[in-house]
Amino acid sequence: MLDVIESGGPFAFTEANRKRADAIIAKYPAGRQRSAVMGLLYLAQEQNGGWVSREALEHVADYLGLTRIQVLEVATFYTMYNLKPIGRHHVQVCGTTPCWLRGADEVMRACRDFGLEKGRSTEDGLFHLSEVECLGACVNAPMVQINADYFEDLDYERMTAILEALKRGETPKPGPQVDRQFAAPEGGPTTLKEHVK
Ligand code: FES
Repeated sequence: MLDVIESGGPFAFTEANRKRADAIIAKYPAGRQRSAVMGLLYLAQEQNGGWVSREALEHVADYLGLTRIQVLEVATFYTMYNLKPIGRHHVQVCGTTPCWLRGADEVMRACRDFGLEKGRSTEDGLFHLSEVECLGACVNAPMVQINADYFEDLDYERMTAILEALKRGETPKPGPQVDRQFAAPEGGPTTLKEHVK
């Protein structure tokens, strides 16, 4: 049954991650530890270098007292879990309508021109490219998620600059790539500029 997932060698949470796992489990009522499966899978993926191996999945199942199939159902449903080794920087381009209308095609073209191919990792192991559905940051579309960070307000040049920075080993600034604070208007406030007494 678990043959759909690659083996990655022995896996067990580190001491630090056991504490994090227990903290996640403690968020749920007694007897509902099953609800922690997503958090624990994400933790396992993080510890395992960006993917959930067969052994990691089994460890999560054992940790929560679940069957393998219960954990496999979750791991195969969500795109956030990688079931085979991937590149160090997982570039997830949002291709849903708001991002598409705002230029996701140009973002994808920048990735392709940089040598990335959808569904594949680069030979140097640095990048893996995926297209995903809405990541909930449509207000600053188009956007991508790279590992745990969002990069927003992208275009061809900005996306290329981010990839180049990652390739040089730098850490590009996440969030909006234009002059705006979070999701505020570009260039500063446009209304309520005066203090009301
Ligand atoms: S459509 Fe891209 S973040 Fe929502």
